[in-house]
Amino acid sequence: MANGLDDVVAAETVLSDVDGLGGHLTIRGHALPELAGRWRYAQVIRLLLDGFFDDLPGDDELAVRLGEARMEVFEPLTPSLSLLAPLEIYSAMRAGMALLPDGETLTDALRLIAAPAVLTPALLRLERGEQPIAPDAKADHAADMLRMLKGSVPSPALATALDTYLVTVCDHGLNASTFATRVVASTQAGLTSAILAGLGALKGPLHGGAPGPVIEMLDAIEADGNAAGWLRAKIARGERIMGFGHRIYRVRDPRADVLKAVVRQLGGAGATGRRLAFAEKVEQTALEVLRQAKPSRSIQTNVEFYTALLLEAAGFPAEAFTNVFAAGRVAGWVAHAREQQTTGRLIRPLSRYVGPVPDLVA
Ligand code: COA
Repeated sequence: MANGLDDVVAAETVLSDVDGLGGHLTIRGHALPELAGRWRYAQVIRLLLDGFFDDLPGDDELAVRLGEARMEVFEPLTPSLSLLAPLEIYSAMRAGMALLPDGETLTDALRLIAAPAVLTPALLRLERGEQPIAPDAKADHAADMLRMLKGSVPSPALATALDTYLVTVCDHGLNASTFATRVVASTQAGLTSAILAGLGALKGPLHGGAPGPVIEMLDAIEADGNAAGWLRAKIARGERIMGFGHRIYRVRDPRADVLKAVVRQLGGAGATGRRLAFAEKVEQTALEVLRQAKPSRSIQTNVEFYTALLLEAAGFPAEAFTNVFAAGRVAGWVAHAREQQTTGRLIRPLSRYVGPVPDLVA
């Protein structure tokens, strides 16, 4: 039996392919570097949803519909947000998304895709005692998310950086949250139910919960002053170094390089540039420490390491990093849910019983 389902093929998909030995990610026939920084997130949503909705419009119309979807999330849900704001922000966002109709239409899908980008800034503002800012339906999705967070139109460089991030994490094979989404979709439950399953799985630190702890690690190493000593002590305690290692990649995660280049572009001589230079040193030390501690396993930098730097530079607090991850990955979840539903087959594996056997009654 495969503990952790390693190497088990549990779905056929046209959506994405992860080549763990070559270090390549393909999204619907496009290599990641073809999309990241070149396609807008709304275009990639259209790419992912193509064939899964009869009424899917072209790119421009889809961007308009996504803007409308942001409004359709903000208006009905904002009154409930002050009740949710005392929760930690990921659970608050998930609870807000649970209020969306559990339907199957393109409108339902776009509301779900829009929701993390609307609810996260609103919740962060409420936490700071500020009023949520309504979406601008005509704005670009990533730029609008930043505007709703900060109250002013972001620089094109920052908006492009966030847009590139959303594209980079939009889909990634049958990762834990996508599998959870497909299991629920296979029961023919609605899209909201399926996406809530994905949200639950993404939260854990072994999956989408890693980038917040990356920031804590960088801060702790900076305060300690001895990167190698700090990292070795962590491994000696049996703990993991966040932002490193992957179930599929045995080489560097290609998303890490895409995001590192984005952070470098934002960087310059300011705080982001200094943070990047420090993080690069920590990365090299961590790779060396991991090579020595786990010589039989190739543990490389994963997407979360540079996610942390990018989202920090974009002005998101570490507690909200997983929300922003969800704002990108939700497009992949919706596409996978629809793809799973088209097979019409319930996912229902077996377990092997290893518990006590009842006495046989004569
Ligand atoms: N730090 C230290 N050790 C690590 C490690 C890390 N980041 N990642 C893997 N390992 C070690 C494990 O301790 C284990 O060592 P052992 O055989 O001596 O016990 C070995 O590598 C295999 O680990 P395993 O948990 O079986 O691998 P996996 O395929 O399940 O791991 C992750 C994948 C992502 C869960 C794992 O690499 C990890 O926990 N990374 C840190 C969290 C993170 O960055 N998550 C985001 C992923 S995109």
